[in-house]
Amino acid sequence: MLLVRGDREFLVEPGEEMGTDLGVLEVPEDVEPGTTIETHLDEAFRVRRLRGPDLFHHFERTGAPMVPRDVGLVIGETGISRGDRVLDTGTGTGVLTALMARAGASVVTYERDPEFAEVARENMRLGGVADDVDVRTGDLTDSVGELEPSSFDVVTLDTGDAPDVVEHVPELLVEGGFLAVYSPFVESTREVVAAAREADLSEIRTRETIQREMQFDDRGSRPSTAPVGHTGYLTLARNE
Ligand SMILES: C[S@@+](CC[C@H](N)C(=O)[O-])C[C@H]1O[C@@H](n2cnc3c(N)ncnc32)[C@H](O)[C@@H]1O
Repeated sequence: MLLVRGDREFLVEPGEEMGTDLGVLEVPEDVEPGTTIETHLDEAFRVRRLRGPDLFHHFERTGAPMVPRDVGLVIGETGISRGDRVLDTGTGTGVLTALMARAGASVVTYERDPEFAEVARENMRLGGVADDVDVRTGDLTDSVGELEPSSFDVVTLDTGDAPDVVEHVPELLVEGGFLAVYSPFVESTREVVAAAREADLSEIRTRETIQREMQFDDRGSRPSTAPVGHTGYLTLARNE
Protein backbone atom coordinates (compact mmCIF):
# COMPACT_ATOMS: atom_id res chain seq x y z
CA MET A 1 0.00 0.00 0.00
CA LEU A 2 1.02 3.57 -0.55
CA LEU A 3 0.22 6.33 1.95
CA VAL A 4 -0.01 9.69 0.22
CA ARG A 5 -0.32 13.28 1.39
CA GLY A 6 0.70 16.06 -1.01
CA ASP A 7 4.23 15.30 -2.09
CA ARG A 8 4.80 12.85 0.79
CA GLU A 9 4.51 9.16 -0.11
CA PHE A 10 5.29 6.10 2.00
CA LEU A 11 5.33 2.47 0.92
CA VAL A 12 3.95 0.45 3.86
CA GLU A 13 2.61 -2.96 4.68
CA PRO A 14 -0.61 -3.71 6.58
CA GLY A 15 0.15 -3.86 10.31
CA GLU A 16 3.30 -1.74 9.99
CA GLU A 17 4.10 1.24 12.24
CA MET A 18 5.91 4.11 10.56
CA GLY A 19 7.36 7.33 11.95
CA THR A 20 6.90 10.39 9.72
CA ASP A 21 7.60 14.11 10.20
CA LEU A 22 3.83 14.46 10.75
CA GLY A 23 3.64 11.85 13.50
CA VAL A 24 3.46 8.08 13.82
CA LEU A 25 1.25 6.09 11.46
CA GLU A 26 -0.14 2.77 12.61
CA VAL A 27 -1.29 0.94 9.51
CA PRO A 28 -4.23 -1.38 10.34
CA GLU A 29 -4.00 -5.03 9.22
CA ASP A 30 -7.22 -4.59 7.24
CA VAL A 31 -6.23 -1.27 5.62
CA GLU A 32 -8.20 -0.60 2.42
CA PRO A 33 -7.28 1.54 -0.60
CA GLY A 34 -9.43 4.65 -0.93
CA THR A 35 -9.58 5.22 2.84
CA THR A 36 -7.80 7.72 5.10
CA ILE A 37 -5.61 6.98 8.09
CA GLU A 38 -4.26 9.52 10.56
CA THR A 39 -1.02 9.87 12.45
CA HIS A 40 -1.05 10.17 16.24
CA LEU A 41 -1.01 13.95 15.61
CA ASP A 42 -4.26 13.67 13.56
CA GLU A 43 -2.53 14.32 10.22
CA ALA A 44 -4.37 12.50 7.44
CA PHE A 45 -2.88 10.28 4.71
CA ARG A 46 -4.81 8.67 1.85
CA VAL A 47 -4.33 4.96 1.21
CA ARG A 48 -3.60 3.85 -2.35
CA ARG A 49 -2.98 0.49 -3.94
CA LEU A 50 0.53 0.26 -5.39
CA ARG A 51 0.98 0.49 -9.14
CA GLY A 52 4.05 -0.40 -11.18
CA PRO A 53 5.71 3.03 -11.40
CA ASP A 54 5.43 3.39 -7.60
CA LEU A 55 7.89 0.51 -7.26
CA PHE A 56 10.46 2.42 -9.30
CA HIS A 57 10.17 5.39 -6.93
CA HIS A 58 9.95 3.50 -3.62
CA PHE A 59 12.03 0.32 -3.86
CA GLU A 60 15.30 0.48 -1.95
CA ARG A 61 17.92 1.01 -4.67
CA THR A 62 21.01 -1.07 -5.32
CA GLY A 63 21.86 -1.78 -8.98
CA ALA A 64 20.60 1.01 -11.30
CA PRO A 65 16.92 0.19 -11.87
CA MET A 66 15.35 0.09 -15.31
CA VAL A 67 13.00 3.03 -15.94
CA PRO A 68 9.30 2.16 -16.39
CA ARG A 69 9.24 2.99 -20.11
CA ASP A 70 12.07 0.51 -20.79
CA VAL A 71 10.31 -2.14 -18.70
CA GLY A 72 7.29 -1.44 -20.92
CA LEU A 73 9.40 -2.09 -24.01
CA VAL A 74 10.73 -5.39 -22.63
CA ILE A 75 7.23 -6.58 -21.72
CA GLY A 76 5.65 -5.28 -24.92
CA GLU A 77 8.31 -6.66 -27.27
CA THR A 78 8.52 -10.11 -25.65
CA GLY A 79 4.81 -10.44 -24.80
CA ILE A 80 5.48 -11.44 -21.19
CA SER A 81 2.16 -12.44 -19.65
CA ARG A 82 0.40 -14.75 -17.22
CA GLY A 83 2.00 -18.18 -16.95
CA ASP A 84 5.32 -17.28 -18.58
CA ARG A 85 8.57 -18.48 -17.03
CA VAL A 86 11.29 -15.84 -17.15
CA LEU A 87 15.01 -16.08 -16.41
CA ASP A 88 16.29 -12.63 -15.39
CA THR A 89 19.81 -11.38 -14.55
CA GLY A 90 20.98 -9.33 -12.69
CA THR A 91 18.26 -8.60 -10.24
CA GLY A 92 19.75 -5.32 -8.94
CA THR A 93 16.97 -3.25 -7.37
CA GLY A 94 14.47 -5.62 -8.94
CA VAL A 95 12.26 -3.15 -10.77
CA LEU A 96 12.22 -5.14 -14.03
CA THR A 97 11.87 -8.40 -12.08
CA ALA A 98 8.91 -7.20 -10.02
CA LEU A 99 7.07 -5.67 -12.95
CA MET A 100 7.42 -8.85 -15.02
CA ALA A 101 6.02 -10.80 -12.06
CA ARG A 102 3.17 -8.32 -11.69
CA ALA A 103 2.41 -8.92 -15.39
CA GLY A 104 1.84 -12.57 -14.44
CA ALA A 105 5.19 -14.27 -15.07
CA SER A 106 7.05 -16.46 -12.62
CA VAL A 107 10.62 -15.23 -12.51
CA VAL A 108 13.95 -16.84 -11.58
CA THR A 109 16.45 -14.03 -11.10
CA TYR A 110 20.18 -14.09 -10.28
CA GLU A 111 22.06 -11.45 -8.29
CA ARG A 112 25.75 -11.98 -7.59
CA ASP A 113 25.98 -9.44 -4.75
CA PRO A 114 24.53 -11.10 -1.60
CA GLU A 115 23.50 -7.77 -0.03
CA PHE A 116 21.76 -6.67 -3.22
CA ALA A 117 19.98 -10.03 -3.36
CA GLU A 118 18.71 -9.56 0.21
CA VAL A 119 17.40 -6.07 -0.60
CA ALA A 120 15.76 -7.43 -3.76
CA ARG A 121 13.95 -10.12 -1.74
CA GLU A 122 12.56 -7.42 0.55
CA ASN A 123 11.59 -5.34 -2.50
CA MET A 124 9.73 -8.33 -3.96
CA ARG A 125 7.81 -8.64 -0.69
CA LEU A 126 6.90 -4.93 -0.77
CA GLY A 127 5.90 -5.28 -4.42
CA GLY A 128 3.57 -8.17 -3.57
CA VAL A 129 5.39 -10.68 -5.78
CA ALA A 130 7.53 -12.66 -3.31
CA ASP A 131 5.70 -15.89 -4.24
CA ASP A 132 6.29 -15.37 -7.96
CA VAL A 133 9.99 -14.50 -7.85
CA ASP A 134 12.90 -16.76 -6.90
CA VAL A 135 15.85 -14.45 -6.12
CA ARG A 136 18.99 -16.63 -6.32
CA THR A 137 22.22 -15.32 -4.89
CA GLY A 138 25.01 -16.03 -7.35
CA ASP A 139 26.63 -15.29 -10.67
CA LEU A 140 24.51 -16.57 -13.54
CA THR A 141 27.60 -17.44 -15.58
CA ASP A 142 28.52 -20.03 -12.87
CA SER A 143 25.06 -21.62 -12.83
CA VAL A 144 23.83 -21.29 -16.39
CA GLY A 145 24.96 -24.85 -17.29
CA GLU A 146 22.85 -26.29 -14.45
CA LEU A 147 19.52 -24.80 -15.57
CA GLU A 148 17.00 -27.12 -17.17
CA PRO A 149 16.97 -26.96 -20.98
CA SER A 150 13.96 -25.33 -22.68
CA SER A 151 12.58 -24.19 -19.34
CA PHE A 152 12.06 -20.47 -20.03
CA ASP A 153 9.75 -18.48 -22.30
CA VAL A 154 11.84 -15.31 -21.98
CA VAL A 155 15.41 -14.52 -20.86
CA THR A 156 16.15 -10.94 -19.78
CA LEU A 157 19.73 -9.75 -19.21
CA ASP A 158 20.75 -6.41 -17.69
CA THR A 159 24.45 -7.03 -16.93
CA GLY A 160 27.82 -6.08 -18.39
CA ASP A 161 28.67 -9.74 -19.03
CA ALA A 162 25.46 -10.44 -21.00
CA PRO A 163 27.48 -11.39 -24.14
CA ASP A 164 28.94 -14.37 -22.22
CA VAL A 165 25.45 -15.64 -21.34
CA VAL A 166 23.92 -15.27 -24.81
CA GLU A 167 25.60 -18.44 -26.16
CA HIS A 168 23.56 -20.52 -23.64
CA VAL A 169 20.24 -18.87 -24.45
CA PRO A 170 19.06 -21.17 -27.31
CA GLU A 171 19.31 -24.13 -24.96
CA LEU A 172 17.39 -22.39 -22.17
CA LEU A 173 14.53 -20.97 -24.24
CA VAL A 174 11.49 -22.80 -25.54
CA GLU A 175 11.00 -22.68 -29.29
CA GLY A 176 9.70 -19.19 -30.17
CA GLY A 177 10.92 -17.75 -26.84
CA PHE A 178 12.55 -14.33 -26.63
CA LEU A 179 15.84 -12.93 -25.41
CA ALA A 180 15.89 -9.27 -24.30
CA VAL A 181 19.22 -7.65 -23.41
CA TYR A 182 19.44 -4.16 -22.00
CA SER A 183 22.83 -2.40 -22.32
CA PRO A 184 23.73 1.19 -21.48
CA PHE A 185 26.65 1.30 -23.94
CA VAL A 186 26.89 0.69 -27.66
CA GLU A 187 30.14 -1.32 -27.32
CA SER A 188 28.53 -4.04 -25.19
CA THR A 189 25.44 -3.94 -27.40
CA ARG A 190 27.62 -4.77 -30.41
CA GLU A 191 29.07 -7.75 -28.52
CA VAL A 192 25.56 -8.93 -27.61
CA VAL A 193 24.49 -8.80 -31.27
CA ALA A 194 27.62 -10.72 -32.33
CA ALA A 195 26.96 -13.36 -29.65
CA ALA A 196 23.29 -13.66 -30.70
CA ARG A 197 24.34 -14.20 -34.33
CA GLU A 198 26.94 -16.75 -33.28
CA ALA A 199 24.28 -18.57 -31.22
CA ASP A 200 22.04 -18.70 -34.30
CA LEU A 201 19.19 -16.76 -32.70
CA SER A 202 16.79 -15.16 -35.18
CA GLU A 203 14.95 -11.83 -35.56
CA ILE A 204 17.90 -10.03 -33.92
CA ARG A 205 17.29 -6.30 -33.65
CA THR A 206 18.52 -3.45 -31.47
CA ARG A 207 16.77 -0.19 -30.64
CA GLU A 208 18.05 2.79 -28.77
CA THR A 209 15.55 3.71 -26.08
CA ILE A 210 15.09 7.44 -26.03
CA GLN A 211 12.17 9.74 -25.31
CA ARG A 212 11.76 13.48 -25.41
CA GLU A 213 9.72 15.24 -22.76
CA MET A 214 7.36 17.86 -24.27
CA GLN A 215 6.94 21.40 -22.94
CA PHE A 216 3.68 23.29 -23.35
CA ASP A 217 3.62 26.96 -22.34
CA ASP A 218 2.20 30.32 -23.45
CA ARG A 219 4.88 30.81 -26.10
CA GLY A 220 4.35 27.48 -27.80
CA SER A 221 4.97 23.75 -27.68
CA ARG A 222 8.27 21.95 -28.22
CA PRO A 223 10.49 19.18 -26.87
CA SER A 224 12.07 20.11 -23.56
CA THR A 225 15.54 21.66 -23.83
CA ALA A 226 16.61 19.58 -20.81
CA PRO A 227 18.98 16.70 -21.69
CA VAL A 228 17.58 14.13 -24.10
CA GLY A 229 16.26 10.96 -22.54
CA HIS A 230 18.69 8.26 -23.71
CA THR A 231 18.69 5.35 -21.29
CA GLY A 232 20.14 2.43 -23.22
CA TYR A 233 19.95 -0.08 -26.05
CA LEU A 234 17.49 -2.95 -26.09
CA THR A 235 18.49 -5.96 -28.16
CA LEU A 236 15.83 -8.56 -28.90
CA ALA A 237 16.20 -11.97 -30.47
CA ARG A 238 14.11 -15.11 -30.85
CA ASN A 239 14.75 -18.80 -30.57
CA GLU A 240 13.39 -20.48 -33.72
C1 LIG B 1 21.83 -2.63 -13.80
S1 LIG B 1 21.56 -3.69 -12.43
C2 LIG B 1 20.02 -4.46 -12.86
C3 LIG B 1 18.82 -3.58 -12.59
C4 LIG B 1 17.49 -4.28 -12.72
N1 LIG B 1 17.24 -4.74 -14.08
C5 LIG B 1 16.35 -3.40 -12.24
O1 LIG B 1 15.45 -3.07 -13.04
O2 LIG B 1 16.33 -3.02 -11.05
C6 LIG B 1 22.71 -4.99 -12.73
C7 LIG B 1 22.84 -5.97 -11.56
O3 LIG B 1 23.37 -7.17 -12.08
C8 LIG B 1 24.24 -7.76 -11.16
N2 LIG B 1 25.09 -8.66 -11.97
C9 LIG B 1 26.01 -8.31 -12.91
N3 LIG B 1 26.50 -9.41 -13.52
C10 LIG B 1 25.87 -10.49 -12.95
C11 LIG B 1 25.93 -11.90 -13.16
N4 LIG B 1 26.74 -12.42 -14.08
N5 LIG B 1 25.15 -12.70 -12.41
C12 LIG B 1 24.33 -12.17 -11.46
N6 LIG B 1 24.22 -10.85 -11.22
C13 LIG B 1 24.97 -10.02 -11.95
C14 LIG B 1 24.94 -6.57 -10.51
O4 LIG B 1 25.43 -6.89 -9.23
C15 LIG B 1 23.82 -5.54 -10.47
O5 LIG B 1 23.13 -5.57 -9.25
